[in-house]
Amino acid sequence: MKLNVVTIDGPSASGKGSLARNLAEYLHFSILDSGLLYRVYAYFHNLNLGTEEIPLLIQKDISFKFNHKDVIVLNDQEDITSELRSEKMAKKASELSSLPTTRENLLSIQRNFYQNKGLVADGRDMGTVVFPEAKLKIFLTASVEIRAERRYLELQNRGQEVNMLALIEDIKQRDLKDSTRTLSPLIPAEDSVVVDSSDMSIEEVLSFTKKLTKGIK
Ligand code: DC
Repeated sequence: MKLNVVTIDGPSASGKGSLARNLAEYLHFSILDSGLLYRVYAYFHNLNLGTEEIPLLIQKDISFKFNHKDVIVLNDQEDITSELRSEKMAKKASELSSLPTTRENLLSIQRNFYQNKGLVADGRDMGTVVFPEAKLKIFLTASVEIRAERRYLELQNRGQEVNMLALIEDIKQRDLKDSTRTLSPLIPAEDSVVVDSSDMSIEEVLSFTKKLTKGIK
């Protein structure tokens, strides 16, 4: 049976996060930012916590607060969002994401985000592995340069210092790692709609994908 889920997969900085938030708001669905979950996993890993402990801690202490513009992550009462959003944590999450234990540990946590009212889930393997029964699967991509420019502005807005060339290199490395790993590599699901947003504004992507959601509820 098909699930009331919209999956949005794609490489780093392709605009999945903002599209997911906008579509979730439009459809009145809940939201799963799975990349952020991988970053939370990396955050706990950096604190030297064991792989059996981390999933329990995520379920016990971590909460995600969504609003139109952003996602706030609280560890107990502490806001850890900007630490999670750093390039350092992105790299660590990417490294850990190629390990089978990490992916197994996070699989059921991700599936639990689906409640009857519907879910928009963004990540790398939402349509291929986590929600293969999703009613609508979108694969959102854009050129490396465009993605680096968007990430640059995002990090600058968050007050983080960034070097454009280093950022392009980081994104290329992460693309390569994410798409060539054996487990859940970043590839479009066979039944996904591929959207290249290189020459599209956020509004254009949103209005195109809103049309795709017709009849989903
Ligand atoms: O989307 P993001 O940049 O926040 O994701 C951080 C890292 O987590 C990314 O480099 C790969 C990993 N990831 C993954 O392997 N599978 C997902 N569904 C989401 C993220």
